[in-house]
Amino acid sequence: MGASTSHERATKGATSSAALEFVKSSPKKLLIGGKWVPSKSGKTFETLNPANEEVLALVAEGDKADVDEAVKHARKAFEEGKWPSLSPHARTRYLLKIADLIEKNADELAELESLDNGKPIFESKNIDIPGAAETFRYYAGFATKIYGDTNPSDPSMFNYTLREAVGVCGQIIPWNFPLLMASWKIAPALACGNVVILKPAEQTPLTAIRLGELILEAGLPESVVQIITGFGPGAGSAIAEHPDIDKVAFTGSGEVGKLILKASTGNLKRVSLELGGKSPNIIFPDADMPSAVFGSMLGIFMNQGQVCCAGSRVFVQQSVYEEFTDSLSTMAKGLTLGNPLDPNTKMGPLVSKEQHDRVIGYLKTGKEEGATAKTGGAAGNQERGYFIQPTVFTNVNNQMKIAREEIFGPVASAIPFKDENDVVLQGNDTTYGLAAAVWTKDINRALGVARKLKAGTVWINTYGMLDPMSPFGGYKQSGFGRELGKYAIDLYTQIKSVYAKIG
Ligand code: NAI
Ligand code: MG
Repeated sequence: MGASTSHERATKGATSSAALEFVKSSPKKLLIGGKWVPSKSGKTFETLNPANEEVLALVAEGDKADVDEAVKHARKAFEEGKWPSLSPHARTRYLLKIADLIEKNADELAELESLDNGKPIFESKNIDIPGAAETFRYYAGFATKIYGDTNPSDPSMFNYTLREAVGVCGQIIPWNFPLLMASWKIAPALACGNVVILKPAEQTPLTAIRLGELILEAGLPESVVQIITGFGPGAGSAIAEHPDIDKVAFTGSGEVGKLILKASTGNLKRVSLELGGKSPNIIFPDADMPSAVFGSMLGIFMNQGQVCCAGSRVFVQQSVYEEFTDSLSTMAKGLTLGNPLDPNTKMGPLVSKEQHDRVIGYLKTGKEEGATAKTGGAAGNQERGYFIQPTVFTNVNNQMKIAREEIFGPVASAIPFKDENDVVLQGNDTTYGLAAAVWTKDINRALGVARKLKAGTVWINTYGMLDPMSPFGGYKQSGFGRELGKYAIDLYTQIKSVYAKIG
């Protein structure tokens, strides 16, 4: 028959021999104490290619016992000062080296990301991988620029502050931007002198494991970065509950965010949370329509809509509602669904069956609530894989479930509005507050609305722009703490005030 092996089927379309080799050398292990080791239980789990549902690799399933072991190594590395007391210049050089290695292996990492997550290769190549390298490079510069103050204390005192590392940081990340999220977490933590234990999402562990290899190649002292693959209840909850972890940084669902916060009370560890969103993307009639349509399309369909800051509530002023939603639907319909590794593919599958079924559920709910799928509204017609057609719902109001709950899929809910006042009220009528956008040529209106929206990031006449130099995080139930920029330094340092008596 000449049937292909399951490995060949799983990696269909991959061209990087390094990526193929990496996937083939399975099962993947945990990075603990500077070595790759199997999980103590010996258990593994499968990671799939969501475009064809074939098994890509087996991965070690870490749990509490492995987390305990990693924490012992991390504590030792931290207390013995292997990393926090290194010269900041040396930390800079290590982080730059990691950035260089990410770039050197960019093609391999991009293919691994698309294989494991399902995102189109043009996105992995242009956004995820370069973004990860840039984040390490940005925080490399910070290692030498973390300042304390001298304070105008009593003249008989010399009082100054030191910004010191927090300690052992547990970092739990999601599957939507696997390598990029790993870099947002690891880079600032290392710049500040912390040691980290990273738990990638069970759906997409591969690039984090590869990053672990690159970090070893960069020569960082042992146990400064450890990587525990595994599930949420298991490895994830063991990190959240651990009495000897000083800080947890989490990105993911609100539901798990709340569990993490509760678990933190055991030892009062510091917590930062980056949770979901239901971001308003607001179109005024005086906007440059072609760019507003294109930007809104990217805002909701990039990465199959699995983006925490996706513009999932598209507010369009009544007078242009028909015209705008027609154009957005036409553009959505034109997006090519297919194998993520094909450079012409604009949309891949969702990450998992679970996510696919969840989104299908919302498509059903939307129709039951009375919304109209102007385009899409169903699964893709591919034989295999977790594809969903890009969907634009019209006849939506802001009280419907599809306007209130995070769908995390390629589904735009288009809601009409009367005027500026109305859209600000509706836009802010949500439990979330991660991002928002406003499209208008009127600068006064743009700046006014940007001020009134309760969101951690606001875009004007663009959507989805992110830069390591600018803070990212949420208002309300989108979480707390700001990642990126100088703000991440606050997350990963604590301040010591020193008084010295003079004379
Ligand atoms: P999730 O919140 O369950 O998973 C995110 C991470 O948390 C993964 O690494 C997972 O293993 C870990 N985790 C799960 N349960 C845990 C626990 N009890 N203790 C510690 N760690 C735990 O998200 P999931 O189930 O993959 O997606 C559900 C929904 O969450 C999505 O539909 C979407 O609405 C939202 N989400 C938001 C993301 C964001 O970027 N803000 C990213 C991923 C999902
Ligand atoms: Mg979950």
